[in-house]
Amino acid sequence: MGIARSILLYASKNPWMRENLPNYPFARKAVRRFMPGEDVNAAIQAAHGFQPQGITAVLTYLGENVRDAKQADQVRKHYCDVLDLIAQAGIRCEVSVKLTQLGHDIDTEISLNNLSNVVEVAAKAGNYIWIDMEESRYVDSSLELYRKLHRQHANTGLCLQAYLYRTSEDLESLLPLNPGIRLVKGAYREPADRAFPRKSDVDSNFFKLSGRLIDALKGKSARVGFATHDQRLVDQIRQAADTAQVPRDAYEFQMLYGIRTELLRSLVRDGYSSRILISYGPAWFPWYMRRLAERPANVFFVVKNLWG
Ligand code: FDA
Repeated sequence: MGIARSILLYASKNPWMRENLPNYPFARKAVRRFMPGEDVNAAIQAAHGFQPQGITAVLTYLGENVRDAKQADQVRKHYCDVLDLIAQAGIRCEVSVKLTQLGHDIDTEISLNNLSNVVEVAAKAGNYIWIDMEESRYVDSSLELYRKLHRQHANTGLCLQAYLYRTSEDLESLLPLNPGIRLVKGAYREPADRAFPRKSDVDSNFFKLSGRLIDALKGKSARVGFATHDQRLVDQIRQAADTAQVPRDAYEFQMLYGIRTELLRSLVRDGYSSRILISYGPAWFPWYMRRLAERPANVFFVVKNLWG
């Protein structure tokens, strides 16, 4: 792992920086590149703007590692309200949640109960809930929770990370459930005994896992989102899926707000389904550090903003 990436991922966990840096105007200005605003209405408005371009959306309220059950309950309520706002706005927009924001660190049952409530509200509105994947220490409990949840609620999908050695086995264990899978490379600092240290190995594993997901799509036994901005992987996946005669609208490419949106637009023009993940909320610091770490050259733009 590069030194810059390591430092940025270390910073993402630093309590002082998490508390204080977001108060600086330059930091608030810089984060705007990756989120339209802290308020949910800014996110809904942005999602609205993408609809005419054929790009659907998924909203996420930033925050993680909530250790107070009352606060986790407020997050549950917030997501229920957001589902109402989405229905009122009449937009094609789903929701993505973090289990640790719903109380997973306090007790996994708390996060399961909170999430089940959100998922029930979503089901009534004909909507769908994605579950983010966090650090590797949460993978076992996230899979266990997803198995329980998905048994009762088919309108749910889980993120899997290609940088983990274990993901191939995890995917095999989930496929019999007809799951929803969002495949990503992985954004956290992980040790070499759990995750491929070399980017080229992560990319190869992403493509290998994509092949398995394409098989599942052929059998119509999964809902799939390939979540990457990596043009080479996108091209390889398109080619493999086209060769396997999987219809272009049978799966999605998903990207983050502010990154490679032109690529998403070109995918829509070519007949592929595309979705943009729009984040919002005041607790953006750790998430923003992970975005900088993905491309340390981004730090240059932040520094430029100091004078901009
Ligand atoms: P890669 O990092 O190789 O980037 C490919 C190219 O995209 C770069 O060369 C650059 O041009 C551009 N790019 C990528 N990131 C950029 C950035 N931050 N700023 C500017 N340009 C950038 N992770 C996780 O661990 N758990 C999760 O739940 C999720 N959820 C999730 C949902 C969605 C919809 C997306 C798109 C991503 C996630 N991720 C995630 C993040 C994911 O793990 C990964 O860190 C990023 O997507 C970056 O990896 P790429 O696949 O884009 O490849």
